[in-house]
Amino acid sequence: MRLALFPGSFDPFTCGHLDILERALRIFDEIEVTVAVNSNKVPIFSVEERCALIEASTIHLQRVAVAPFEGLIAEYARKRDASALIRGLRQTNDFEYEQPMALANRHLHPELETVFFLPSSDFTFLSSSIVRDIFRWGGDVSDLVPEPVGAALQTKRSNE
Ligand code: PNS
Repeated sequence: MRLALFPGSFDPFTCGHLDILERALRIFDEIEVTVAVNSNKVPIFSVEERCALIEASTIHLQRVAVAPFEGLIAEYARKRDASALIRGLRQTNDFEYEQPMALANRHLHPELETVFFLPSSDFTFLSSSIVRDIFRWGGDVSDLVPEPVGAALQTKRSNE
């Protein structure tokens, strides 16, 4: 069984993340969406909320688990006996961010490969921060996030 981790902040999980996950499931036996606890930014959703929303958004998929994580992803991958990290690459500037991270992780854990997937061209503009920005200014994000995430954002808005 080849386990891959799909690490990220996922604040929130978007249709782009789901697209990457579905592509990676064609290659890997099992994928854990690994939700980073420590974020420098103030998140919209707590890590528990993000995990629950990812579980609800991936309920139709087999071979997917969701877990929170804190610390070094390379060490966590070693502990979980994962063979790869999955990351999405939308545009060239993503590569500038991803390459040092992938090489740092390789330095820490030489057997761990970072595998990049290109999302559908429909999602090359999409990021959690774009979703947060549209949401904060009252825009419609329902086409950009899975249904459970859209519903949770609506609830946040009506509680504001
Ligand atoms: O969705 P994001 O915010 O781009 O995800 C970044 C994340 C959480 C995958 C990355 O910051 C990470 O792995 N953080 C854990 C700390 C770590 O292992 N750092 C060393 C790699 S540079």
